[in-house]
Amino acid sequence: MTLKQKIISKQAIVGIIGLGYVGLPLAIEFVNAGYKVIGFDVNEKKIDSLLHGQSYVLDVQSDIVKKYVDEGKLIPTTDFSKISEVDTLSICVPTPLRKTKDPDISYIVNAVNEIKKYFHKDLLIVLESTTYPGTTEELVQKEIESMGYKVGEDFYLCFSPERVDPGNKKYNTKNTPKVIGGVTKKCLELAYLLYSSAIDTVIPVSSTKVAEMVKLLENTFRAVNIGLVNELAMMCDRMGIDIWEVVDAAATKPFGFMPFYPGPGIGGHCIPLDPQYLSWKAKTYDFYNKFIELASDINGNMPRYVVTKVSEVLNRYKKCINGSKILLLGMAYKKDIDDIRESPSLEIYRMLKEQGAILDYNDPYAVEFMDEKGNIVKSFELNYKTLSIYDCVILCTDHSCYDYEKIVEEARVIIDARNAFKGFIDKKYIKLGSPIYDGDTGIYDYIKEIAVAKERIDKK
Ligand SMILES: NC(=O)c1ccc[n+]([C@@H]2O[C@H](COP(=O)([O-])OP(=O)(O)OC[C@H]3O[C@@H](n4cnc5c(N)ncnc54)[C@H](O)[C@@H]3O)[C@@H](O)[C@H]2O)c1
Repeated sequence: MTLKQKIISKQAIVGIIGLGYVGLPLAIEFVNAGYKVIGFDVNEKKIDSLLHGQSYVLDVQSDIVKKYVDEGKLIPTTDFSKISEVDTLSICVPTPLRKTKDPDISYIVNAVNEIKKYFHKDLLIVLESTTYPGTTEELVQKEIESMGYKVGEDFYLCFSPERVDPGNKKYNTKNTPKVIGGVTKKCLELAYLLYSSAIDTVIPVSSTKVAEMVKLLENTFRAVNIGLVNELAMMCDRMGIDIWEVVDAAATKPFGFMPFYPGPGIGGHCIPLDPQYLSWKAKTYDFYNKFIELASDINGNMPRYVVTKVSEVLNRYKKCINGSKILLLGMAYKKDIDDIRESPSLEIYRMLKEQGAILDYNDPYAVEFMDEKGNIVKSFELNYKTLSIYDCVILCTDHSCYDYEKIVEEARVIIDARNAFKGFIDKKYIKLGSPIYDGDTGIYDYIKEIAVAKERIDKK
């Protein structure tokens, strides 16, 4: 049976290398589509957890994992010799940065080395890890061809960027359109067939380099726009203008504008890192991406800006950071998820600690983290009634489960980096990129009245 026939008849065995935020949901979608999936990971704890029916990814339910593992449809393993049993392999390993901000492609290299050990003809390999243009050809094609096999004849190779947005209730792995580029037409044809049997919309492009670049454009676009609005937030702060109100009003323009919101900085495994991959590769072509560097600089400095704000606010109460009792709400890099990778909250926590603050943090999802000295710091149980013991509460991540009304009632001073307390105006409330309350709420009350009246009319 040819690989094409195996894919069409769902008899192909799908392999996934790297069962993290990207790989595990993808594995589940391939099982949902009717394939048997072998999932490979080097992390024994994760494999053990899956074998016991426990998911560690918020978007993947444990009962689904348990069902599929029990039925033998999902086989999680650390045994890479099982690569010899699979027909397709999607590589979803991390692509972090080194301390020097250069791409760390060692995870891809390690995965490819395992593939080389157990390689067999007719294997379809799809690299999904976000990386610089040229990686698929330079790190995968070259390596496999060095063993005497020809791409498009003996094996098939594609790149398909992963766009999953953890915590997104509307868009998931299945209904987020997926771009795929192949090294040859046959490579693309097979991958298109496989992925369109599991994902709603697949968008073919003419090369792996185009597919690699698509992901970098998407995330550079986000990083640059967030950088722009963060810079404007700092400017608005100085000019006494509410950036959030400005963005919301600008967003009513039905064309030519897309809202981006400021915040305490950017985090996660994608937005802070991916543009650096592009910028690094561009330099090898003697090309310097000024937008990327500028956005990285502005976004990277936002945690420091938040800390400066804390210092300014405490100063109004004749206090300083040193010795003040501060509560930080939200350690994850964005709302309703547990991912703390590159989270700006970590940096804010570190800086406040360094300046002598007596700190607690709460995050219902990110329940612990390791500080730079290697100590495990645990989330403090949130007791709304005792919030007044803190000199200041900083809202870093706007998790939906927080009771914002109770925080407002009990906290002595609130610094909001996310516009989470929408519409709240008070002397004790300080919002990033916004003027401090001046005592006259009349105009805001009038605007609210109009909004309420409009809602009433719209409902009729
Ligand atoms: N997390 C996201 O929201 C997201 C979104 C889009 C794209 N991406 C990209 O997808 C890729 C994976 O990201 P992630 O968030 O899933 O990372 P992750 O850290 O959650 O998962 C990666 C997994 O790969 C495993 N691994 C590492 N080396 C391995 C090896 N040699 N063989 C087998 N397994 C190995 C790790 O143990 C881990 O379980 C990255 O390139 C990332 O940039 C991530």
